[in-house]
Amino acid sequence: MSWHVNILTLFPEMFPSMLGQSLAGKALERGDWSYTIINPRDFAEDKHKTVDDTPFGGGAGMVLRADILEKALLSIKSPGRKIYLSPRGQVLNQQLAVNLAERSEPITLLCGRYEGIDQRFLDAHDFEEISIGDYVLSGGEPAAQILMDACIRLLPGVMGNDETAGEESHSDGLLEYPHYTRPAEWTDCYNQTHIVPDVLRSGHHANVEKWRKKQAEDLTQLRRPDMWENYKKER
Ligand code: ADE
Repeated sequence: MSWHVNILTLFPEMFPSMLGQSLAGKALERGDWSYTIINPRDFAEDKHKTVDDTPFGGGAGMVLRADILEKALLSIKSPGRKIYLSPRGQVLNQQLAVNLAERSEPITLLCGRYEGIDQRFLDAHDFEEISIGDYVLSGGEPAAQILMDACIRLLPGVMGNDETAGEESHSDGLLEYPHYTRPAEWTDCYNQTHIVPDVLRSGHHANVEKWRKKQAEDLTQLRRPDMWENYKKER
């Protein structure tokens, strides 16, 4: 079973971009996931292929038209869960990524450009809105790619080492513990020598686990008091 994403975008050349490389790219070649691009411009009816118009009530920018977007949407055989990438949406987190990747139904991502989308289209077709953070991008395409990346790496068989996904930042409500590799002793360009913590070289697995847990907890408490509060509540 392949995870399928329909992408409504006025800029098809922006895909697959980073998703054609590395882990996601290999998974795409294997058929672990797939995508279809739908360009609303292909559904415009005038000779200039117009997809937008000025906003009612005045103001800056242009708004994507509901009638054209609807034709583009209806051309999709199984749209599944419909998502509009927008800074107004629910903020993407690991739990939401897991939820989106788990589902066998396809998802349809609507990438906005210009000022926005006619609200009637979003309402008529029950779009969920998802944001990738509290800042504004010039379009939804990078946001769609980030959402897809977060999901694709969770698909069965995509990550080489299946255990890794459970231990990383956010999967257990904590930030991830620090990592070290050889050389065990390293002198930097300021002539400072840095030594890998002894416990990690002790070969004592239970102590390593304990140390990593403590590091993850301390780091979370320090950097993300919001996550720390939730973590404590849930235990
Ligand atoms: N489009 C523009 N800004 C965005 C954001 N922060 N998240 C999702 N889509 C967006």
